[in-house]
Amino acid sequence: MKDILQELETRRADARMGGGQKRIDAQHARGKLTARERVELLLDEGSFEEYDMFVTHRCTDFGMEKNRPAGDGVVTGWGTINGRMVYVFSQDFTVLGGSVSATHAMKICKIMDMAMQNGAPVIGINDSGGARIQEGVDSLAGYGEVFQRNIMASGVVPQISVIMGPCAGGAVYSPAMTDFIFMVKDSSYMFVTGPDVVKTVTNEHVTAEELGGATTHTRKSSVADGAFENDVEALAEVRRLVDFLPLNNRQPAPVRPFFDDVDRLEESLDTLVPENANTPYDMKELILKLADEGDFYEIQEDFAKNIITGFIRLEGQTVGVVANQPMVLAGVLDIDSARKAARFVRFCDCFGIPILTLVDVPGFLPGTSQEYNGVIKHGAKLLFAYGEATVPKVTVITRKSYGGAYVVMASKHLRADVNYAWPTSEIAVMGAKGATEIIHRADLGDEDKIAAHAKEYEDRFANPFVAAERGFIDEVIQPRSTRKRVARAFAALRSKKQEMPWKKHDNIPL
Ligand code: HXC
Repeated sequence: MKDILQELETRRADARMGGGQKRIDAQHARGKLTARERVELLLDEGSFEEYDMFVTHRCTDFGMEKNRPAGDGVVTGWGTINGRMVYVFSQDFTVLGGSVSATHAMKICKIMDMAMQNGAPVIGINDSGGARIQEGVDSLAGYGEVFQRNIMASGVVPQISVIMGPCAGGAVYSPAMTDFIFMVKDSSYMFVTGPDVVKTVTNEHVTAEELGGATTHTRKSSVADGAFENDVEALAEVRRLVDFLPLNNRQPAPVRPFFDDVDRLEESLDTLVPENANTPYDMKELILKLADEGDFYEIQEDFAKNIITGFIRLEGQTVGVVANQPMVLAGVLDIDSARKAARFVRFCDCFGIPILTLVDVPGFLPGTSQEYNGVIKHGAKLLFAYGEATVPKVTVITRKSYGGAYVVMASKHLRADVNYAWPTSEIAVMGAKGATEIIHRADLGDEDKIAAHAKEYEDRFANPFVAAERGFIDEVIQPRSTRKRVARAFAALRSKKQEMPWKKHDNIPL
């Protein structure tokens, strides 16, 4: 009996060593943690329940039958983050480069199936040389099985990908279909074809970091949602994010204890909007002053900064925030900002997270570049996402809300539940200058007349009251009381139920 127990411990110890000390040292020398160290940091201490530690591949080609490491290059199981269950897989680069064999994929599929069945998020830590070359199509089939599960799990349980090493070729498409992708600066990259192929095909000389590093994907491509300095920081931030999210689409997000007065008045907000309508101000200040304890988890912070997306809590409840940022491009809507916000709105809607929209938008960005690249379709994504969202929606207009962008930004007409406006709001088809130049074209050149017309237009429309007279704005509120008003609005909406007409699924403009 003792021998059997001893054998188990020996086998476990062997599996825990992955590809051996030399390769573990090499992993550390690159500033990377091992697959197991990452799981330990991600999960609550001692909470990890491992599965399939002794699984080995079945390949007999290219001498592989002599090299069958226990675990087959991926550590899988479940554990807790602040007491809440998550499933996790963590690819072990020290074992055959973390490459994906049929059995490696099978391990991942097993925990994804359990996650869907038991209603808990899946967190995938990616560090892999891609398809196990020795296995050929068996490996590709394994990827296909994972992809299909990514699709089935989408909107059922949150899926989070953390890229902590290579992720190349078709392998990128599994993270691409998850809800959030986080990367580590200088030690992770994602691309469909690497620098050598790029050089051969397009004659572009580019490093792996330039082509698909964390900075590229958080600033240029928007493939990734956040970039962190090292593994430790990335895993700590994933834990912070999970705290905001529900475990699945049938459960509400967790309610955290809060120590911030919900009636807190912020007098400084009364002067947040500058006197001059063209002077920018920082919308993040409003978000931080609204949030419980000023805690804001920003998503895609470095991309399309003219719109801000992220999570706060109000009375301990998670709220998704979408806010125009007047500091960047005057907060205009364009292709990138519309795409960024649309995806965020859809995430919130499928996981029952209420949406707060803070509006200061001068309209859509004009230009050939925008039109040629399809701003019509991309702008429509945000419009569609807001219109189809059935979660509680509260909107606050702080200043400009012009034209089509007024309708898009969670207006009453897209079934927003409570629409507030600050007294500084201007809700109109366009700004006074542009409007005057169109409707008083005959007076162009006569500065006095144009100024008088602009003043007349401003007096009529550069305020929230016309919209309030129509009921499109439910109430004009004091800026200082915004936290209280918004929190009460969401409190009143906690039992909201809204149905969509039956359909197989919609056809959002992609
Ligand atoms: C089998 C692999 C492997 C792979 C790496 N290894 N990738 N084994 N299949 N795909 C093994 C190496 O043989 C080596 O084994 C160990 O992992 C570490 O690899 P190194 O090359 O020494 O490490 P490094 O110098 O850091 O380079 C890492 C790397 C490189 C850039 C990932 O290994 C590489 O280019 N690998 C091949 C990548 C690739 O072409 N994959 C297929 C992509 S297509 P030892 O025993 O020496 O430690 C794809 C399609 C997916 O993935 C399709 C889905 C539909």
